[in-house]
Amino acid sequence: MKDINVLAIESSCDETSCAIVKNGRWVISNIISSQIDIHKRFGGVVPEVASRMHLEAINNIVDQALKEAKMSLEDVDVIAVTKGPGLVGALLVGISEAKALSYVTKKPLVGVNHMKGHICAAFITHKDLNPPFICLLISGGHTYLVEVKDFNDMKVIGKTMDDACGEAYDKVARSLGMPYPGGPCVEECAKSGNEKAIDFPRVMLEKDSYDFSFSGLKTAVLNYLNSKKQKNEEISKEDVCASFQKAVFDVLIYKTKRLMQEKNLDKLVVAGGVSANNTLKKEIEKMAKENNYKTYFPKKILCTDNAAMIASSGYFEYLDGTRDDFSLNVLPNLEL
Ligand code: KG4
Ligand code: ZN
Repeated sequence: MKDINVLAIESSCDETSCAIVKNGRWVISNIISSQIDIHKRFGGVVPEVASRMHLEAINNIVDQALKEAKMSLEDVDVIAVTKGPGLVGALLVGISEAKALSYVTKKPLVGVNHMKGHICAAFITHKDLNPPFICLLISGGHTYLVEVKDFNDMKVIGKTMDDACGEAYDKVARSLGMPYPGGPCVEECAKSGNEKAIDFPRVMLEKDSYDFSFSGLKTAVLNYLNSKKQKNEEISKEDVCASFQKAVFDVLIYKTKRLMQEKNLDKLVVAGGVSANNTLKKEIEKMAKENNYKTYFPKKILCTDNAAMIASSGYFEYLDGTRDDFSLNVLPNLEL
């Protein structure tokens, strides 16, 4: 079969990225330009600033991706782009660029679900990985437990009822005076803390539920910090971070394990920004070893937002016959 090179664009949040990926799994180039340093000043992503920065960066990033791949647009077979979920203005920049490229080159256009992209990051890192498997998908905006039946057949079994997992990290970090994004800071700080120091709640919701809720845990952390401050007692940030993380992990791992058992599957993919957390990786690998499961984490650079994962998802969509026309529009609230 002829090789298929997908050029993909990702601009759903605070990373402007363009990648070229061969046959859904081989990264030829993956340029990621992060806006984090700018948004850090405001303590989170400012949507209008993000859109403007994407606009300034996008042409350059596409050029760089082609240059690094030593390719011209002629060598590209498909143009893929994140259509949602994400920030409306930010998504619009990527979609407009992709439409322009598709119009000029007459190459097919494929709109991609960003969350599907996160799952496909695992196909790039693990060339032998094929469905079916369970995916624990934990990002800054979403938290899903997914049964991946096939490359384009994914069923959401559980999701968050309130805050996403990464969002809880970011909010806890903020309340501790740590910069955005909070995940890496909380993980680092937790390394010298005691995870048993504070008994934060493990919110399981009703019996047998695969849904998540992290806002109660976040509030419990805030209440703990306030009550300590009121009593003028010293706070160990390390213990707060370690105990918070442990509460998150306990819930994630308990529900994931139960779903693996129920579906009788032995392959587990963990994806999305929070899957970059090494402490979580170790805990999941321990659970997997005890149960004879195989685990698949994307390489760290592919855990957080990047266009290579969008190219991979775009490839599998393309094989399935997905084609978009120029009426393709942003879908900020797109679900999996
Ligand atoms: O998937 P992602 O890059 O963007 C979204 O699609 O949302 O995820 C970003 C989220 C942020 O909330 C960030 O704090 C979290 O992933 N994150 C982490 C770590 N690295 C990034 N959370 C915990 N531990 C980390 N090491
Ligand atoms: Zn993402």
